Amino acid sequence: MNYRHAFHAGNFADVLKHAVIAQCLEHLKKKDKPFRVIDTHAGIGLYDLTSDQARRSPEFKDGIARVLDAERPDAVEAALAPLLGVVADLNRSRGLEAYPGSPEIAARLARPADRIQLCELHQEDARTLDQRYAKDAKVKVEARDGYKALKAIVPPREKRGLVLVDPPFEDRDEMAHMAEAIMPALEKWLTGTFVFWRPLKDIWAAERFDVGLAEWLISEQRIEPEKILRADLWVRDLSTEGKLAGAGVVIVNPPYTLEAQLLALLPWLAETLAQGEGAGWRLDGAIGEGSLMVDEF
Ligand SMILES: C[S@@+](CC[C@H](N)C(=O)[O-])C[C@H]1O[C@@H](n2cnc3c(N)ncnc32)[C@H](O)[C@@H]1O
Repeated sequence: MNYRHAFHAGNFADVLKHAVIAQCLEHLKKKDKPFRVIDTHAGIGLYDLTSDQARRSPEFKDGIARVLDAERPDAVEAALAPLLGVVADLNRSRGLEAYPGSPEIAARLARPADRIQLCELHQEDARTLDQRYAKDAKVKVEARDGYKALKAIVPPREKRGLVLVDPPFEDRDEMAHMAEAIMPALEKWLTGTFVFWRPLKDIWAAERFDVGLAEWLISEQRIEPEKILRADLWVRDLSTEGKLAGAGVVIVNPPYTLEAQLLALLPWLAETLAQGEGAGWRLDGAIGEGSLMVDEF
C-alpha cells in the first residue's frame, strides 16, 4: 500500500467528490432521525497543505485553491456551500492551510446522534484517524479492510445513511474488487445512499463498472433507473499521459436535489479547473441507456 492521499488532497477530483458527499450529508440532516455514515477507505481525515507531501505535489493549487479564488455564480455557490463551509471553518484567520478529507467533512456536518464508521487499512493512518476522533463520540475508527467491513456493517440500525467507497486504485483489478464488494452491501441496504469514486484512467473499465452496476440494480427492480446518477469531470483531454486527468462518482439513491446542483456545478468546475485543452464533464442519470446530458469544451 503505497498510496498516500496527502499528495492529492484538495485536487479537482477531491473537490467534486467532497462537494457531492457534503450535499448528501446536508440532505440527510433534513430529517430528525439519526443516520449512519460508512467510509470504507477513510484516509487520515484532515490534510495539512503546508506539509512536505502537499508541497511536493501541490495538486490543491489547481483544485480547491482555484475554486476559492474564482468568482462563483449563485447556483455554484449553493452547490459548494456545505463543502466550502467546512474548508472555511478549518482555515479561520489563515490562508488555505488545511483541507478536509471525507471523515472530517462527515464529522463536521453530522449531528451528535448520527454515527460515523471509518475503515482504514493502513495501520499508521488508522492510528492517526483514531487519535484525531478519539474525543468525538459519534466517530468509530476500524483498522481493517473496508470492503470486508462493509459486508458486515450493512444494514446498519439506521434506515438512512451514506456509504462512501473511495479506494486508491493502486491495484489494476480495483474496479472489479469494488463491484464485488458493493453488490451484496447494496442488496442488504437498498435505502442507503452510496457514492462510488473511480478514476477515468481507463474509460472503458469505468464504463464497464458503471453500466454493470446500473444494469444489475435496475434488473429485478432493486432500484429505479432515476436513482442512479453519474457525475464526471476531466481537467484535460482524457487521452493525455501522466497525472490523473479525470474522475467522478456514481451515486445510488442521490438526494433529489443533487442532479440540479451538479448541473450548475460541473460546467463551472470544468472551466475553472481546466489544465489544458479538452477539459469537460458529464452528468447522466440513465447509464447504459445513453447519456442524459453530456458537455465538453
Ligand atoms: C483515496 S484515499 C481515501 C480518501 C478519503 N476517502 C477522502 O476522501 O478524504 C484511499 C485510502 O484507502 C486506504 N486503503 C487502501 N486499501 C484499503 C482497504 N482495503 N480498506 C480500507 N482502506 C484501504 C489507503 O490507505 C488510503 O488511505
